[in-house]
Amino acid sequence: MSAGQPMSHVPYQAEGQPHLRDLLTTLSAARRSSQFYPPEHPAVEQAVGDLKSVVDILHSGGAKVELTFFEGDLVFADRVMTQESILFDQLIRDTSALGIESLQILPDVGVGELTRAVRILASDASDIVAGGGIERVIQAARLEGVQFGHVRPARAEVDGVDDAERDRQAYEGAVDLVRDMDQFVRSERPASGLPVRAAVGALVERVRMRRSAMLELASLRDYDHYTFYHSANVAILSLALGSLISDEPRFLSALGAGALMHDIGKLAVDREILNKPGTLTPEEWKSMRDHPVSGARMAAQMPRLDRSAAVIILEHHMGHDGSGYPRRPPGQRQHLASRIVAVADVYDAMTSRRAYSEARAQNEAMALVAASAGNSLDPTLVRLFVTMLGVYPPRSVVRLREGSTAVVARPGETDPMRPVVRVIAAPSGELVEPYLLDLGGPGAPEVDRCLDPASLNIEVDDYL
Ligand SMILES: [Fe+2]
Repeated sequence: MSAGQPMSHVPYQAEGQPHLRDLLTTLSAARRSSQFYPPEHPAVEQAVGDLKSVVDILHSGGAKVELTFFEGDLVFADRVMTQESILFDQLIRDTSALGIESLQILPDVGVGELTRAVRILASDASDIVAGGGIERVIQAARLEGVQFGHVRPARAEVDGVDDAERDRQAYEGAVDLVRDMDQFVRSERPASGLPVRAAVGALVERVRMRRSAMLELASLRDYDHYTFYHSANVAILSLALGSLISDEPRFLSALGAGALMHDIGKLAVDREILNKPGTLTPEEWKSMRDHPVSGARMAAQMPRLDRSAAVIILEHHMGHDGSGYPRRPPGQRQHLASRIVAVADVYDAMTSRRAYSEARAQNEAMALVAASAGNSLDPTLVRLFVTMLGVYPPRSVVRLREGSTAVVARPGETDPMRPVVRVIAAPSGELVEPYLLDLGGPGAPEVDRCLDPASLNIEVDDYL
């Protein structure tokens, strides 16, 4: 604070809520430890004890300890807390997703019921559905000193829409968004950044909740609408990788927006050039290579879009080692989010069939990505990416040790060599009704080798 500014510019001390941030910090910490440990674990006891101490301090100062979550913002003592809404965005979103709109902790709250209340806040939507709905879960916790207000059905309960359906909706929302952008660009109408934020928000939520299932979806392909699906896939791969590095909501939303729109500059390029099977003329190359710059310009003009999305678009073809285009000014580093998108882009592009190239097998694409580590791609990010997708990434066709044929659905939970697969043919070669098999399970066979789907005449999309 500069000299001469009135004290009212310091929000908490001046407003009489010096412990609000402590309350949110301890509540978030207690929630996190409850997600990892059982209620009697010392880490949970410690975290709930810390929370109780802050609650007691607030009560002794005469404060009413009530948090209200309203449209993504936090309201405390009848005021929207702007800074805390940003800092504790995850707590607010997760609590709202459970159908809880307010939380009041009364002065005589016991540690036991505080632990049970925190446990409810730590649940994910599927726990709530399994418990019979949010109202029943709250009743069963027998809480007197904690009151949850304005409870409505948790999102996953509504209309029986399950997680898989929500994953698909988020994926299709992203594909549709890029399709809409295509319309805007071709008609030269201005586009707003708001729908981008909504589509990205849904992707971030799904990737955080169900990384493996979303990675499986991110392997979908559509030859006729390559750019739309490629953009959605790159967004999911980038968010999955980015969320291993940082959980910061602003970072993830800018990363998702940049990734989803990384190729919008291509939407303005002549379709004949885009789909040309042969070699491009120097002019055609120039218009292709201009797409990061033109795309960044479009994004920078979109109202209400995070400015760093434009940086990601501009830098997605720059190489980690200074190769690529447009040329990076000496001394300027490629943004972390751009480096993430570059890895996801190269991998997804290689595994897709396009006018000018056949798709490569997943494991072959992964080997090529690994070979670029330290050259055009950031080696640390490549290492994380390989660990994330496993040695046999989703869509790989594999022969198992006992002779069956399977399509990889998602990476293994514990061992990168043992993914979850869909078995499609018996050792005899006879096709079977596809069934899921976790190769990390006891007694499950190992992968023997990768197969080339083209030589087997297998349409992988039929088994996803
Ligand atoms: Fe591109």
